[in-house]
Amino acid sequence: MREVRASAPGKVNLTLRVGAPTPDGYHPLVTVFEALALRETVTVRTSKTPGVRVETIAYLPDGSIDEATTRAMEDVDPATHLAVRAARVLQRLAAAGPWASTAAGLSIRVDKRVPVAGGMAGGSADAAAALVACNELWELGLGAEQLVAIGRSLGADVPACLVGGIALGTGRGDHMSVLREGDEEGRHHWVMLLSREGLSTPEVFREFDRLDAAGVPALAEPTPEEVAALCGGPEELSHCLVNDLQVPALRLRAELADTIASAKDAGALAVTLSGSGPTVAALARDAEHARALAATLSDAPTVARAIHTHGPTCGARIESTEAI
Ligand code: C5P
Repeated sequence: MREVRASAPGKVNLTLRVGAPTPDGYHPLVTVFEALALRETVTVRTSKTPGVRVETIAYLPDGSIDEATTRAMEDVDPATHLAVRAARVLQRLAAAGPWASTAAGLSIRVDKRVPVAGGMAGGSADAAAALVACNELWELGLGAEQLVAIGRSLGADVPACLVGGIALGTGRGDHMSVLREGDEEGRHHWVMLLSREGLSTPEVFREFDRLDAAGVPALAEPTPEEVAALCGGPEELSHCLVNDLQVPALRLRAELADTIASAKDAGALAVTLSGSGPTVAALARDAEHARALAATLSDAPTVARAIHTHGPTCGARIESTEAI
C-alpha cells in the first residue's frame, strides 16, 4: 500500500472584476489571486476496500480540532466533496495504468484549515491537493497544464490553488498566468475576518446580476504598472484592492459593512471582501501590525474569528510519499 500527502493553499482575491454573464450563467472574470499560508492537507492511501472514502478534520488557528466544522463535514455527501470528485477523475485514469490493481480502493483524509464557505477556496484547495496527491499515488505523470485543465472542470478556483503565488485569472477566473511565484516569507500580511455563517457563491453572483441590469463595463486586464503594485509591498498593494462582488455581498449580508468599518477603524491599510465572501480581508503593514489587528478585531461583534496569515505562498505540492 502507498500513502501520499499533498497540500494546497487557500486564497484571497486582490482584484476581482466581473463581467455580464454568458448564456451558460457563468461570469467572465478578470481577477488576481494571492495564495495564502492557510493550507489544506490531503492524504490519500490505496485501500483493499473498493470505492472512495473521505474523512475531514477541521482545525482552529491554534491547531486544536474545530469540533463543530468537523461534525458538519461528516454530513457532506461524498459525491459533492471536491477532494472525492478530484480523486475519482484520476482514479478512472489509474484504472488503465500500472497501479490498476490498487486503483479501485482509496481512502482520503482532509486536514482542513481554510474556513468552509468563506470565499477563500477551501473546497477548491481540497481538490487541488487531491489531484496532486493522486497523480503521485498512481504515478500518472500528468503535467501541471493537464492538472490545471482537470482542475478547471471541477471548479473555477481550483486552477488558482494549483498554481499558487500571485496569479491572474481570466475566462471564468480559471485560465491562469502567474505574476509572481510564492515563497515562505510572506510579503503581504492579512487578517482574515470570518463570519458566523457562510454565503452562497451563486447567490452573490445572482445579486450582482440584479444590481447591474443596466450593463456592466468591459473587463480589462491589469496594466504592467498595476501588476507591479499588486506584487509590490503592502503600501502599494493597498491602493489596488477592488472586488465587484462586494456590493452584492453586502446587500445580502448587511453586517459585513460593520466588519469592514471595524477593520478600517482598527487601522488596516486596506480592507476587501475575499472572493464572494463572507470573509473580509484586512491588509496589515507587517506581521506585528497583523497580530495587533487580529487581537483587536477578534472582539468585533460581527467577527466570528480573526486569523492572521500571509501570502503569496506556493501552489499545490507533495509533502510526503510513503510505502505503508
Ligand atoms: O466554478 P464553481 O463551482 O466554483 O462556481 C460556483 C458558482 O459560482 C457557479 O455555479 C456560478 O453560479 C458562480 N460563478 C460564476 N462565474 C464564475 C465563477 C463562478 O457565475 N466565473
